[in-house]
Amino acid sequence: MTPRVLDRWWLKAAAQGVLAAAPGAAVLDDRLRRRVRAPRLTTSYFRSKWQHVEAHLRATGREAGTGLPDSRVVELGTGWFPIVPLGLALHGATVVTIDRTAHLDPARVRLTMQVLSDLEASGQIRCAAPERLAQLRELLGDPGARTARQLLEPLAVTPVVADAQALSGVPETHGADLFVSNNTLEHIPADVLGRIFAEFLRIGSPRARMSHYIDLADHYAGFDPRINEFHFLTLTPARWRLANNRLGYQNRLRLSDYHRLLREAGWRVSGQRLTSRSVRQLEGLELVSPFDAMSAEDLLVVKAHVVTDRRA
Ligand SMILES: C[S@@+](CC[C@H](N)C(=O)[O-])C[C@H]1O[C@@H](n2cnc3c(N)ncnc32)[C@H](O)[C@@H]1O
Repeated sequence: MTPRVLDRWWLKAAAQGVLAAAPGAAVLDDRLRRRVRAPRLTTSYFRSKWQHVEAHLRATGREAGTGLPDSRVVELGTGWFPIVPLGLALHGATVVTIDRTAHLDPARVRLTMQVLSDLEASGQIRCAAPERLAQLRELLGDPGARTARQLLEPLAVTPVVADAQALSGVPETHGADLFVSNNTLEHIPADVLGRIFAEFLRIGSPRARMSHYIDLADHYAGFDPRINEFHFLTLTPARWRLANNRLGYQNRLRLSDYHRLLREAGWRVSGQRLTSRSVRQLEGLELVSPFDAMSAEDLLVVKAHVVTDRRA
């Protein structure tokens, strides 16, 4: 399907593409976001990420509300609000969260901590490390804690700006028991993902596990009600190159691709929970190669929580 000039998804892609072409695009994008509005974090968004915290805990064999002491966790792709790293730290873990771009700022971190504190106080979420929760509340009232790092490090969360493909220079990540990601893998090219999975295997503890939340749907569908979550599978590589850009990059990988990359890097999928759509969603779509040769079962997965162990 040729994009029409006024298609909403196409306008979004074009505007983001122009910004992405500028030098230092990610930093520029962050500055624009800060200018346009103060950080906003809804409780429903927070709670959706808290479900990831609980799923990562379950991936280690624990339930929400039970602790994760003596565990070292590495998160790939911090993003803008450190909900999952704080959630795991408030269950007793030591967390290193890595992003190749420094999105965190004190206002976003404080807002995350405030929402966490409020939801816990109203009984909507549970934590298992009361001393860390008390410290979080103390930090919220401390005007001296001015940087994202000063707010997070007392709570056992270390933010690191680094490329996860090469972590030799980040010793805090070595020996990790758990590697997690949240809505991040779909934004990373396949070859880079392969190198990240191999690096995690190399630096992880002998009993290391991974727990990844992946969103496999076309993210442009969230901006344009006229397209569905599989629309991007109808765009030829040349058209997709025009629509895809560094800022909102989507790799279009399907579940079987992730399984292959994990296997090739030395990991074994030991559990997964999938959300799939009805086959009717593919009706009328002219899928392009390689998607036209894939099974509907594979194509229709839109969300996946994948847990892996080291291959024996
Ligand atoms: C969609 S955002 C993360 C969202 C966040 N985890 C959340 O749940 O809100 C994906 C992040 O992955 C980061 N990223 C992409 N490739 C990376 C790499 N090779 N190493 C480290 N971070 C990377 C990007 O900079 C971006 O901030």
